[in-house]
Amino acid sequence: MVTLRPATVADVPVLAAIRADPEVRRWWRGGDDLAESIRADLDDADLALYAIEHDDRVIGAIQWHAEPDPDYRHASMDIFLDPAVRGAGLGVDAIRTMARYLIDEYGHHRFTIDPAAANSAAIRAYAKVGFRPVGVLRRYERGEDGRWHDGLLMDLLADDLTD
Ligand SMILES: CC(C)(COP(=O)(O)OP(=O)(O)OC[C@H]1O[C@@H](n2cnc3c(N)ncnc32)[C@H](O)[C@@H]1OP(=O)(O)O)[C@@H](O)C(=O)NCCC(=O)NCCS
Repeated sequence: MVTLRPATVADVPVLAAIRADPEVRRWWRGGDDLAESIRADLDDADLALYAIEHDDRVIGAIQWHAEPDPDYRHASMDIFLDPAVRGAGLGVDAIRTMARYLIDEYGHHRFTIDPAAANSAAIRAYAKVGFRPVGVLRRYERGEDGRWHDGLLMDLLADDLTD
């Protein structure tokens, strides 16, 4: 359903507009200059940022990062979609596609993802891909309200990936 391709500077305005939507900002936060934040992600050599396309339109982004220590090798992922296309299975499809690519092209065997414990839509989507909850990361991240909020560590082994 979706096509993933490396994001470029040409994608910054549309991705910044999606990140600015309150439904995305609630979970992804970001400072006053979201375009600058996305440009910084594009320049980050440790991060791979992919645009998610559907019907010839950019509908969001998915990123991954590899743990550099070979004895703890795994990839972590994160995703956001335009709220206008939510709930249509595109998020699950994008995460599954990314995981499949990282297994086939990079030989990754394990993936992690760490949504806010309160982000039930994301947790449900990740579970549909095959991610399992590992445990609650207590007071893991600071919200815009200045308080610490729990996260949920989830992991996926290559064999867990659903079709
Ligand atoms: C998380 C996200 C990527 C999921 O993508 P999506 O395309 O909406 O998800 P899917 O349509 O593939 O749905 C997967 C499951 O999520 C659940 N879901 C999707 N949107 C939901 C919503 N608004 N409320 C509750 N559950 C929701 C559905 O129950 C669905 O399961 P079902 O088909 O069995 O009902 C997307 O909602 C998003 O970008 N959210 C905002 C940013 C964010 O939270 N990113 C994750 C940070 S860790």
